[in-house]
Formats: sequence, C-alpha cells, structure tokens
Amino acid sequence: MKATLPSRALVLAPMVALTHRALRQLILGFGGLDLAFTEMASAAALLAHTPFDSCYLDADPQPERVVYQFYTTRPEPLPGALEKVSTRGVFGADINFGCSAPHILRSGGGAAWMREPEKAAGLIRLARGAWSGSLSAKLRIGADDDYGRLKAFCDGLVEAGLDFLTLHPRLEGQKFRRTGRWDYVARLSSELPVPVVGNGDIRNYDGYARWMAEARPAGIMIGREAARRPWIFALIRGRETDPAFEMDIDLREVALRFLGLVEEFLPPEYHESRAKRFLGYYADNFSFAHHLRTRFQNAIDIPAMRIVLDEYLSEVPEDRLKVESN
Ligand SMILES: Cc1cc2nc3c(=O)[nH]c(=O)nc-3n(C[C@H](O)[C@H](O)[C@H](O)COP(=O)(O)O)c2cc1C
Repeated sequence: MKATLPSRALVLAPMVALTHRALRQLILGFGGLDLAFTEMASAAALLAHTPFDSCYLDADPQPERVVYQFYTTRPEPLPGALEKVSTRGVFGADINFGCSAPHILRSGGGAAWMREPEKAAGLIRLARGAWSGSLSAKLRIGADDDYGRLKAFCDGLVEAGLDFLTLHPRLEGQKFRRTGRWDYVARLSSELPVPVVGNGDIRNYDGYARWMAEARPAGIMIGREAARRPWIFALIRGRETDPAFEMDIDLREVALRFLGLVEEFLPPEYHESRAKRFLGYYADNFSFAHHLRTRFQNAIDIPAMRIVLDEYLSEVPEDRLKVESN
C-alpha cells in the first residue's frame, strides 16, 4: 500500500555527495526525521549499471523513510530505473525538476523540464505507470517570476498522478545569496490538491516555526543545515512539544561517529570527498570555522581529518561541547 506523507513532515533534502547512507544514519540516530531524500541519481546511469550503484541505492537503515531521487534528460530510461528499484521497500520516488547546475540544464535535465510543461507531465504519467509507491517532484519557481505559470505546471503534474511536491522557491539558476520566496510556497500549498513541502533557508527552530505558520506547507525540507547540525530535526521536534527543550552536543563525538559511518558504508573511493563535503559544513559549529575548514580540506584521508579535529580541540577545548536550543 502507498504510504502518505506524515503530517508536518520533516524531510532531509537531496544533496549530491552529502545525503548518502552515512549522513542519513547519523541523523536518524538523533531522531526527528520523517523522510530522507537520496542525492539525485541518473535514471540512465542506473540502467547501465555504474560501479557505485549499490551506494546510491543503499536505503538502509530505514528504507521506509527513504525517497529515491532521480534525474533524467529524457523519458525513456525512467520506467526501467523505477522498476529496478521497485522491490527496495522505500517510501517513494522523486523526480528532479529543480537542479539548475549548468551541465544538468544544458543536457535537458533538472529545471530544464520546467520549460516544457507538457513533456514534464508526460514524464510523471510514465513514472506513475511504472511505480506504485509515493511519487513526488522537487521544483524551483521556474525561469521567471510568474506564479500563474508555476501553478499551471504543477496542475499538469498533479493531473498526471503526482502524490506530493517540494518547492524550493527560487528562480532557475538563482544562487543562495537572496532568500527564497516563501510566498510561493504559501500560495501553492493553499491552491493545490496535493501536499506541498517547503524548502529553503531553514536554519533553526524559529525558521521552521515561522514558515510552518505563515506558509502552511505540509512539511519542511532541510538541506545545508542538516550537514551543519545533523541534530536539527530532533531539535525541531523537541522544541515543538517543549519550548524549553535543549540538546547537549559533543561536537567531537558526532564528527567521529560520522567519519566511522563513512568508512563503514561508503566505498573507499568516496571516503575522502564525502568526508570533506560534510566537514565543510560541519566546521561552522566551531569558533574558528574558516581555519578548521581549510585544515580539513588539506587533510589527505580520514585518519588525518581525525587528527586535525583533535589538534584543533586541544587548541580550543571550549568548542567541544555545545548546548543547542534553536
Ligand atoms: C551540495 C548540494 C547538493 C544538492 N544536490 C541536490 C540534488 O541532488 N537534488 C536536488 O533536488 N537538489 C539538490 N540540492 C538543493 C537542495 O536539495 C535544496 O533545495 C537547497 O539546498 C535549499 O535548501 P537549504 O536552504 O535547506 O539548503 C543541493 C544543494 C546543495 C547545497
């Protein structure tokens, strides 16, 4: 039976080289997370059996909370890719209509689909025929600031069989400098017949509470902050029931746990790059973030990253323990 989106869902965003098994398991250990998107995987590559398929398809330790995200530049590979993963017991499959990295756009994937609404609806119809689990899409506003066009695009997807969608309310190609347009999330949430998850710039409980109240989405998706503070979902859930809720965090212990999970679950070829990608965000928890980030980036392997962390904490021991309340 198809699972439905939990109410006030807290969702981990898909992020290339970040939302793999190791980060997901770390976050699930803190609790509070309802759904976790994988990083986008190419439908065509999955059908062609790339060497690291098993890493992208690892949905453990809780497959029932996992949404596989796919991107494709043309419709043909998608049904086969969905069939290939149909026995994995995951919550759902998501189609990427939001990525506007230049190489993805140029090849016709990600946000390029939003320029061709009928083709995009056709893709969802095809996916619906091949996938009985939850089917969702993640989008941006589109090429220009035009709510009517976005709404018509979404109507087409819903009619084609979409179960929910996530809006990251920035224009195609817009970087993170300006904040997202949550008024778009509010309008879509109130006007579409399917749940809308809002995403973008949520850094803490206050941000979550503000946009849940003002935009009334079905859930909130968090990306970068989950790499900075993997306990963010647990903190939000705790604060929701108890305004005085706090968490004691040992930054050394969390970092070491993450590095151990990377070594345990990711292929050796990915250890250094995935560890550095995460630590680049995680370093923000420390007083001398820039200095520490540079030292992590210069480390040659994970054992060297552990040494960097301990050398830093021997210089700045007061950074190790943090009380988190927002
Ligand atoms: C490093 C990185 C990789 C990303 N990879 C993906 C991806 O694979 N698929 C996708 O739909 N969005 C991707 N995104 C966008 C995020 O899912 C999310 O929409 C964006 O970061 C805004 O949310 P945030 O402000 O909570 O980080 C990526 C973002 C970052 C920073």
